[in-house]
Amino acid sequence: MPQLKFPDGFLWGAATSSHQVEGNNHNDWSEWEQSHAEILAKEAEYRRRKQISHLGTYRGPLHLPPEAFQKENYISGTACDHWNRYAEDFDILKSLNLNAYRFSIEWSRIEPTEGVFDEAALRHYRDMIAALRERGIEPIVTLWHWTLPLWLSQKGGLTYRDFPHLFERYTKKVVEALGDQVSLWVTLNEFEVCASHGYLMGWWPPEHKSLLSFFRAIRNLIRAHRRSYAAIKALFPAVQVGIAKHQIPFVVLRPTPWNLLLKNIADSLWNHWFLKRIQHQQDFIGLNCYRRNVIGSWFSQNPNATLTDFGWEFWPESLYLALKDLQRYQKPIYITENGLADASDHLRHEFIERSLTAVHQAIAEGVDVRGYLHWSLLDNFEWDKGYWPRFGLIAVNRETQERTVRKSALAYAETCRNNALETAN
Ligand code: FCB
Repeated sequence: MPQLKFPDGFLWGAATSSHQVEGNNHNDWSEWEQSHAEILAKEAEYRRRKQISHLGTYRGPLHLPPEAFQKENYISGTACDHWNRYAEDFDILKSLNLNAYRFSIEWSRIEPTEGVFDEAALRHYRDMIAALRERGIEPIVTLWHWTLPLWLSQKGGLTYRDFPHLFERYTKKVVEALGDQVSLWVTLNEFEVCASHGYLMGWWPPEHKSLLSFFRAIRNLIRAHRRSYAAIKALFPAVQVGIAKHQIPFVVLRPTPWNLLLKNIADSLWNHWFLKRIQHQQDFIGLNCYRRNVIGSWFSQNPNATLTDFGWEFWPESLYLALKDLQRYQKPIYITENGLADASDHLRHEFIERSLTAVHQAIAEGVDVRGYLHWSLLDNFEWDKGYWPRFGLIAVNRETQERTVRKSALAYAETCRNNALETAN
């Protein structure tokens, strides 16, 4: 069988975020879940009845499982209990031959009250990192994956004028405590997604629908990243710092002038505007990529496409386009997220294989890709969709917390072990 070799030292991993896996967090999202669980369950029911897709996520016909109509689905609660079970989860990571793990620090645990830092929480993350290192797994640590401490959300969250300074102070605390053990930091995860969903479209907390709020949030996040970058580099000049950016390759099937214009606008606004603003404050680009967007008459999808459980088009080659498009920045790239919701696990194996073929092709064409982290290690709490979407390499039983490695994960483990992908042709 032909083999696609990857560069020596390539990082093979999986990713999670604190709120989605830890359990028992108390932050702006956990509060929002309490007040919205019922509404979200009813909304899912309404959408199913009317067959209306949700612009933010589902684009195709809805085939929602029964959990989607139950209120409990929308409450993060104990999540995957990863806070207590991380060692067990890292054993599985190791057994799958993964050598990298991306996770995030929960700001609301580190600074539960403004200006008061919880040393025990910092120690907990230090222990987690030590547990990874003992197993030969490289930690990639994200400082902010969307959730905010309550005191901060009460002050206005991302739009609060002092946000950049507060984020810098939090960064310093975390990096002083963990920095000697971490070489790769991600300051912010997909800040454009969080700001647009929460401050412009009103889908997520704090449900603002305002262009002004959106711009304030973005401006603050850019400033926060720059300050955080400088703070980390001042403490540990040799480490690598970047952000995780959600890229969507926009594709035109019919190259009419109108479609090409739309593509260019979407591309520069969504894919490049933010990256350009911080290009001098990033040592690498963290690429989160799940799909492409086909521009037809409007942002519609290919009607013949296979869809994942999430209603996203199954088209793993998106990753190739996203990587080639980032080549212009001349920075190392880590794929910090790529994956799919696939409860029955019938698409995941092919998705990973085709995604990695796409990565290999991009590397062969000169793109400096240093690692691939699959989203996600575990089935977890998928924000306003709750628990029904199953993104995990490892299935998690919601009642018992039992972990079961999916078949597709075993195939991925082989690739990680060989640092090479075996392909059928
Ligand atoms: C990304 C988020 C991640 C997860 C995946 C499915 O946009 O960063 O937390 O929700 O989508």
